[in-house]
Amino acid sequence: MRRLSALILLLMLAAAPLPAAADESIVIRFSHVVSPDAPKGKAAEFFAQRAAELTRGRVRVEVYADSELYADRDEMEALQLGAVHMLAPSLAKFSVLGANGFELFDLPYIFEDRRALRAVTEGPIGERLLESLEDRGIKGLAFWDNGFKSFSANTPIRVPADLAGKRMRIQASRVIEEQMLALGAVPHMMSFSDVYEALRAGVVDGTENPHSNLYTQRMHEVQPYLALTEHGYLGYAVIVNKRFWDTLPRGVRRPLERAMREATTYANRIAREENQLALEAILAAGTTEVHVLDAAARAAFRRALLPVHQSAAERIGEDLLAEVYRATG
Ligand code: LMR
Repeated sequence: MRRLSALILLLMLAAAPLPAAADESIVIRFSHVVSPDAPKGKAAEFFAQRAAELTRGRVRVEVYADSELYADRDEMEALQLGAVHMLAPSLAKFSVLGANGFELFDLPYIFEDRRALRAVTEGPIGERLLESLEDRGIKGLAFWDNGFKSFSANTPIRVPADLAGKRMRIQASRVIEEQMLALGAVPHMMSFSDVYEALRAGVVDGTENPHSNLYTQRMHEVQPYLALTEHGYLGYAVIVNKRFWDTLPRGVRRPLERAMREATTYANRIAREENQLALEAILAAGTTEVHVLDAAARAAFRRALLPVHQSAAERIGEDLLAEVYRATG
């Protein structure tokens, strides 16, 4: 979008796909970057199935998993252009749109638990964040959970200093970049689809993700150490091309909205369990030493990472951040 900007925007307005006429079936192309077995992959399939059932076959949702259609760096642009209709990027990936408020989700230790998270995603802050996408041609439909992230690497991680000098893969997020710098690590932004190979080849030394992503991408096979830091959250916003969505007939949009509500309940119900199962599977694989931090190490990670809140506050907005603290406190 940066490269092509104005011309592409014009083309986009002209080219965004319109739904089919009343008697034709409607295809929704839903692209994502994770495995079909990850929580997001399962929730996308669930949505596809309920969308077909509730519209009595009028809508067919085609789910493209594992970056098969678009990788991180291209999927937002493809959505705005109408080349794909629906995505569920991680909340870390919305700053490419200049939607800086979304950076709040990446702040280390911002949510003590899921109750605090829900206070944001299911309250006025979440609603406003989704609405803020509309002037970018995007409609936000829902927030879906994954879980809390842990650090993995090719050497043991016991205390923050163990990550000093480590080349760590990150998502395209300024907050996560600042988080790695606060640990003395060297952040490398790269698409999710490239991470396994980069870890395998030693292009990067480590990464962070919830266990479900680590396991379903087989990263544990090339990461001998995992420390259960749970220092930050990773979740998603389900988004659609606004023009496409707004021009769907009401008799189609209504059941799709219901399918999305049901898929959201499902996604948020399975995520925690899927991450627990993934951790058990990593332990069973025997490839990765899993380290549980003691209280002193947990406190040390917190001390090292909390200053990131200050450095990110200006971009996120001091008022918004204060509102988040009040809602989650
Ligand atoms: C990542 O890039 O690490 C994650 O955002 C992938 C995902 O969509 O869960």
